[in-house]
This record gives sequence, structure tokens and C-alpha cells, in this order.
Amino acid sequence: MDDVTAFKPNLARYHALMDVVRNRLTTRAFRQDIPVPREHIEMVLEAARHAPSGANAQPWHYIVVTDPAVKKQIADYFVAEATKRAKMKMKFPTPNYRGLENAPGFVVVAADFRFLRAFPVLLDGSELDKLYQANAERILLQSVAASTMSAHLAAAALGYQVWWVTAIGQDDAQASLRPLLGVPDDLAIIDIMLFGVPAKPPYKRWKKTLPQIMNWDRFDMANYMTVEDIDAWVRETRHKVMYRDETKVD
Ligand SMILES: Cc1cc2nc3c(=O)[nH]c(=O)nc-3n(C[C@H](O)[C@H](O)[C@H](O)COP(=O)(O)O)c2cc1C
Repeated sequence: MDDVTAFKPNLARYHALMDVVRNRLTTRAFRQDIPVPREHIEMVLEAARHAPSGANAQPWHYIVVTDPAVKKQIADYFVAEATKRAKMKMKFPTPNYRGLENAPGFVVVAADFRFLRAFPVLLDGSELDKLYQANAERILLQSVAASTMSAHLAAAALGYQVWWVTAIGQDDAQASLRPLLGVPDDLAIIDIMLFGVPAKPPYKRWKKTLPQIMNWDRFDMANYMTVEDIDAWVRETRHKVMYRDETKVD
């Protein structure tokens, strides 16, 4: 830009975006009587398509599920996984995954981990390569999350509410889900995106304040948590911030 004074921030557009960002609220039960038309699903996945990704590899696939029987089968897996976790005494506050089967917008997210080779890796089986591969895996997961988040925001912009579900469990659950959707074994089903009109009014959950996450020039140790702090947070706070209104967190 030749004239340095020519840049004008587009505040109206920022505030329009923030309205969507702030009001994307996780919803775990949807109205069955208000369907999501195909056009809206395409609009949501159009947003996913434009996401950034490491090496521009775009290692994602979205499978739109419309068959109520398949939705139910997938919900069954999640309910079974939640029961399994409860039996193992994982103590993770579990929502009611039956809500999945009634979600009008139902999109399964698959990642192609073979694209690790598109990132800086040696592929020689060495110890060093293991470190590069671990980093490559983080690049890949961040890429798919960037795309998925774009889709979530697009759904929220349309006025729907969303549910991001990762509680798939281990390889055996994936192995059961893949054939239901014709997903090749090389791909990993990593999460499910549900959206629709909420059955109950959604609520805003607790978010950290800006000073709690923003550090200028140096990490602010006031934001540092020890493992003991984190364990205490998990014990005393996690269940409240997952399910309660931010105004009710003590
Ligand atoms: C990566 C990721 C994984 C999540 N996995 C699940 C999940 O498996 N089940 C679930 O009910 N919610 C899941 N959520 C939703 C979170 O619980 C929710 O985003 C969080 O409580 C904050 O609430 P908010 O989305 O309304 O801001 C997930 C969210 C993200 C971003």
C-alpha cells in the first residue's frame, strides 16, 4: 500500500463477525421439526472449504448424514462409549449423546493422516523422524480444526446452533463407524458436527477474560497454572463451566 494512511479497519465487518463468534453456543438437543435444507449444509461446508491448512494440504472430508437409521446407529456408538467411560471411572461429565440422533444437520468429519507426509518429516523411521511426525500430526489436526471451525461459524451465522463432538473413542469405534458411511480404512473419523435449531434456549458458557489469555512480549506468569492447579480446576470447576451459565460459576 503506497499511502500508509489509506488503511481503514472495517469495524462494521469485525462487529458482525464477533456477533457470530460470541453467539456460537454449544447446543446438545435440537428441534426435529425444523430441518436444515441441503442448501444450508452446502453453505456451511463452503466455509469449511476455504480454511487454511498446513502446506495447503486440506486433509479433510465431510460426510453429510441424512438417513435417520444411520444417525441412530452413530448415536448408539456414542452412548455406548459414554457408558464405557463411566465404567472405567473416567469421571468426565458426559452429556446425553442420544441428542445426536435428532440433529437435523449431521456432518461427520474425517481426516487423512497420510498427509503427514506433506509436512516436514523424514520418513526414515528414525527417532528424530518420530519428533517431526508428532509435530506433523499437530499441524494436521490444527488444519482440520480450522476448517471445522469455519463450518461451525457459518452454521452459527445462519442462525443455527452447533455441537462439536469428539467423544468417538478409540480405533474400535472408528472401525465400526467407517462401514456405516463407506469411509475407507485409511481415513480417520475424528469428530462430528451437529447443527440445527436448539430445543431449549442456548446459554453462554464461562470464557477466560482477555488478560487471562493475552500476554504482551513475555508470558505473564499470572496466567501460568501448575499441574496441581489444573487438577484442582478439573475437580472443582470443569463440570460447572461445561454445563452451566457463566453467571452461575462461583
Ligand atoms: C475440539 C472440541 C471437542 C469437543 N468435544 C465434545 C464432545 O465430545 N462432546 C460434547 O458434548 N461437547 C464437545 N465439545 C464442546 C465443548 O464442550 C464446548 O465447546 C465447551 O463446553 C464450551 O462451550 P461453548 O461451545 O458453548 O463455548 C467439544 C469442543 C471442541 C472445540
